[in-house]
Amino acid sequence: MQSSTFIKFDPARVPSPCFVIDEVAIERNLSVLNYVQEKSGAKVLAALKAFSCWHLAPLVNQYLSGICASGYHEARLGYEEYTKKGEQGEVHVFSAAFSQQEFDHVLPIANHIMFNSFSQWEKYKAQGMAHQQNIQFGLRINPQHSEGTTEIYDPCAAGSRLGIPISEFASKRLEGISGLHFHTLCEQGLEPLRRTLAAVEEKFSDYLSAMQWINFGGGHHISHPDYDVEGLIKLIKSFAKKYNVQVYLEPGEAIAIRSGVLVSEVLDVMHTDRSQAILDTSATCHMPDTLEMPYRPDVFLSGGIKSGEANQLPYNYRLGGMTCLAGDVISDYSFEEPLQVGDRLMFDDMAHYTMVKTNTFNGIRLPAIAIWNSKSDKLEVVKQFDYDDFKNRLS
Ligand SMILES: Cc1ncc(COP(=O)(O)O)c(C=O)c1O
Repeated sequence: MQSSTFIKFDPARVPSPCFVIDEVAIERNLSVLNYVQEKSGAKVLAALKAFSCWHLAPLVNQYLSGICASGYHEARLGYEEYTKKGEQGEVHVFSAAFSQQEFDHVLPIANHIMFNSFSQWEKYKAQGMAHQQNIQFGLRINPQHSEGTTEIYDPCAAGSRLGIPISEFASKRLEGISGLHFHTLCEQGLEPLRRTLAAVEEKFSDYLSAMQWINFGGGHHISHPDYDVEGLIKLIKSFAKKYNVQVYLEPGEAIAIRSGVLVSEVLDVMHTDRSQAILDTSATCHMPDTLEMPYRPDVFLSGGIKSGEANQLPYNYRLGGMTCLAGDVISDYSFEEPLQVGDRLMFDDMAHYTMVKTNTFNGIRLPAIAIWNSKSDKLEVVKQFDYDDFKNRLS
């Protein structure tokens, strides 16, 4: 694992709470993804659902082939900010189901549209095919091969609504369909992909050669130092050659691994049955994955003071948020020195999925967003939120 560039960042330089993204770390991840594109011939798209910090879109555009979106809003953000209105880069859209209104909006701005069922494809086929623009239509398949350990992140778990199983393909006509898409992985290495492709080939081999493209989805931890990048390149090349298809990958997390922190400030230190530090952030509002996954972020303290697991270091605290939720707790940590009101903490690896999932429960202020360059030390706070952002979501 790379050591975080934020070890040397002074969190007092930004308002609190604040997401700080290191553009050097993002570029490091993008270069690995671009290397895969160049060597394998695959096209790599940025999954905006994981990281849609569009201030960095010009940087992403320098390296990747476009974006993938989960519906109209992300597709439009991709079209407006990442592809310069379709002049460069592709916009791929998949939704578990498109409403008529959403499909009408997506059609003029998408290059690829992927459907989650034959009934959705049949509903929109005539309208899609009649559209003047050259759009590719695809189907999301479910190879029914689980590699995940956490059920809510496993699209191949029994009962999944995501992707069409092979049993539904019987006697279905595929004119107008030029590609297949699967997304089955989550933070995984090459071997789970290799096994998944074997399952795809075993079940869908009758259809693969008739396609122009196959999208391997996301969940590939390609920019993680342990990932077998050369193995991936070989695998893509041999699959693309065997079926004569363009391969797409659409990682999200791999763009932003180890590139961002959430800065927060200690508002109070108190004692109940244990020592508690109340922060100006919240697990449920600002880092919901700590409760959903669940996931325990590493934490750095200003001044380089060490932190660790509970009971590892002399001073133990439960780090909790400002809301009324009893379970608004990030986790239990220990520090080499006692926490003081006003101390700044940095929660590590908070760029992907965390920034896009924030909410304003209890009226909690959303974290600001800052872009830092760990090489030049340039820092810019690009967004701050206030009462109007809370009020405008409500009526
Ligand atoms: C269809 C699809 N594509 C791509 C991704 C991105 O996955 P990751 O961020 O794990 O690479 C996801 C994540 O849920 C997804 O559902």
